[in-house]
Amino acid sequence: MNPFSEILNGKNPNRPPVWFMRQAGRILPEYQQLRLKYSFKQLMETPQLACDVTLMPVNLLDTDAAILFSDILVIPQALGLDLEFTDKGPVFQTPLLKHSHPENALNPQPEKLEHIYQAIDLIISQKSEDIPLIGFCGGPLTVLLYMLEGLGTKSDFRNAERFIINNQKATEKIVDTVTAITIEYARQQIRHGADCFRLFESNCGNIPYSIYNQIFLPSVKKVCAAVRALNRKFFYFAKGIGAGISTITPDVCDYISIDWQTDIYTARKLLHKEIEIEGNFDPRILLSSENQIETELQKYKPFAEENPKWIFNLGHGVLPDTPFENAKFFVKKAKEIFTR
Ligand code: CP3
Repeated sequence: MNPFSEILNGKNPNRPPVWFMRQAGRILPEYQQLRLKYSFKQLMETPQLACDVTLMPVNLLDTDAAILFSDILVIPQALGLDLEFTDKGPVFQTPLLKHSHPENALNPQPEKLEHIYQAIDLIISQKSEDIPLIGFCGGPLTVLLYMLEGLGTKSDFRNAERFIINNQKATEKIVDTVTAITIEYARQQIRHGADCFRLFESNCGNIPYSIYNQIFLPSVKKVCAAVRALNRKFFYFAKGIGAGISTITPDVCDYISIDWQTDIYTARKLLHKEIEIEGNFDPRILLSSENQIETELQKYKPFAEENPKWIFNLGHGVLPDTPFENAKFFVKKAKEIFTR
């Protein structure tokens, strides 16, 4: 049986499942070919193309799971924000900070998410039954930073961060709206066939952790509860959480996916014993040589032996300039080295 499916069914596989964040786009030559013909938005919004790209990495890299090809910013779109994907990344035409009361500027239109459910239906009918499908959404803080600031220069969300810190009541109101539509989105993805659900909080470290805990973590818990109510496991990618990992309780997630900045053995010691770990190979190492990749993989071998439910992943998305052959080697070697 596929090791990822075994884990989803509560079993201990004979090796950790291997997949990686952003496996569906970026580094696949076939994806680059498609991008010459179609924009990212067209790929995402055409169900058959989204289905094809979702299944590409499973076929080309031999990863143990497929992740839906979409983006976390479809939720702001479904809240009425106008989004464009430019060469420099996502840009909102009228970011929430342009409004004098951002908390009143949202206009939920859940029908804008329909094409994603159609893509899931196609994926389910076309994938091998053995390969689980990961559904996903953005984390409430990450989504809100993009919505407020309007463009994603990734590390620079200063105006949005300032707004959140100075307007906590208004922030709570926006987070409630984002949470409600996200819950419906998660439920629909699962009803259409997603085997588990993942929340990408890629900017967890951008505000003081006490504010994160107070305003955003309750939202994550609500999404988790909705996913569990449909008998699916909930994965929480929390980039930049650092030692905050020690405050995560089992009502937040079944799995926490950690970045490379916290050593995985230390993370295991800090984390609640009922929560499992996914992670956390530094994606930069895939830019080096096969020898170096193998040396770094060997460092995780004791972790594989001690943690039968560990899922092997990168600590963040695979980098766009990663050689495809290195990514392929990485998957093959990881499977070999970590077999128990
Ligand atoms: O893992 C996968 O490949 C599945 C699909 C997926 C995409 N985005 C496709 C995408 C997933 C899971 C995401 C999540 C996402 N999107 C996050 C959270 C994860 C993370 O990496 O931190 C964030 C912050 C976004 C927002 C976003 N979308 C940015 C900042 C960008 C531009 C830069 C980039 O990451 O490439 C995007 C565009 C985007 N989303 C692309 C892809 C394949 C590139 C589009 C292209 O082909 O030009």
